[in-house]
Amino acid sequence: MSGIEALAPVPWETRNLGRPSFEVTPAFARSPSASRLVLRLQEEEKEHGEIFVQCRTSGRNRRLLGALRSAGFRPAETSLVPWTRPSVNRVFKLFQKNPGAFLPMGAMPRDFTVAPVPRSDLPTYRGVESIARGAFSEDRFHRDPLCPPRTADRRFIFWIRDLRKDPHAALWILREKGRLAAFFFFRGGDLVLNASQKGFRGRGLGRFAYLSVFSRLDPSGRKILQSRISANNRPARAIYRALGFKFKTPEITCHYWSALHPDVSTRAQKKP
Ligand SMILES: CC(C)(COP(=O)(O)OP(=O)(O)OC[C@H]1O[C@@H](n2cnc3c(N)ncnc32)[C@H](O)[C@@H]1OP(=O)(O)O)[C@@H](O)C(=O)NCCC(=O)NCCS
Repeated sequence: MSGIEALAPVPWETRNLGRPSFEVTPAFARSPSASRLVLRLQEEEKEHGEIFVQCRTSGRNRRLLGALRSAGFRPAETSLVPWTRPSVNRVFKLFQKNPGAFLPMGAMPRDFTVAPVPRSDLPTYRGVESIARGAFSEDRFHRDPLCPPRTADRRFIFWIRDLRKDPHAALWILREKGRLAAFFFFRGGDLVLNASQKGFRGRGLGRFAYLSVFSRLDPSGRKILQSRISANNRPARAIYRALGFKFKTPEITCHYWSALHPDVSTRAQKKP
């Protein structure tokens, strides 16, 4: 029996999902075995009861995907990593010359302001939470029929609270006529989480919003700017493409739930 540890705890998902949560280790992903994985899942279930396990991998790792499927994992999401080099991005340069060209008819650049948010600014953090509530629908937990929508929503609120405490994270916001319109959390050159206010979404302001924030970031230490989005997120995909970002090879995230949440079994059955 190999000594490779197959599972590692993921404490924040344990808190988010309300059940012990794990991820498949990179070492196991390089040397997968369905029987070893099943054995480890059974050991954890014996100790903890209901558990959750996640695994993100390139679609090329067929052996791993096969082992995951045999052990009861299901694909939850295909994700894309859009990336660019800000120093050579031509769209960024066009924006610096003429931001108004990125706005739909009738909107004026002077109506919008961008600013970093200090951690002490609790009212703005509360506003960001209220934007996030109900904003996300294309991520792997909202699309997973085995995860209750309330849990999937709450996960983003926990995430925002974690980011506020994270010394490497920075929050930027866009205001329209003084009102909170969109938020963007960065960790270095990674845009880790962002969303727009309900009344702001779908008005063709997305490219302007992203560019307004990207153009304010300190270029030192940000040779690459990147994010991660669900392949199902059509607005985000359209924006990154229009902004000249490239996309890395898609990855698949698989989920394992050892038993159904009691309030989702009927939902799961209703899904086609
Ligand atoms: C992603 C998001 C920030 C985009 O901002 P937005 O202001 O809604 O974007 P826009 O109105 O400028 O639309 C952007 C593009 O998507 C298209 N689009 C907008 N809504 C769409 C929809 N429901 N279905 C398909 N395409 C859509 C627009 O036509 C536009 O494409 P185009 O430039 O080719 O015309 C916003 O939709 C949002 O907050 N979504 C929820 C959170 C999220 O997904 N965050 C990002 C990933 S973590």
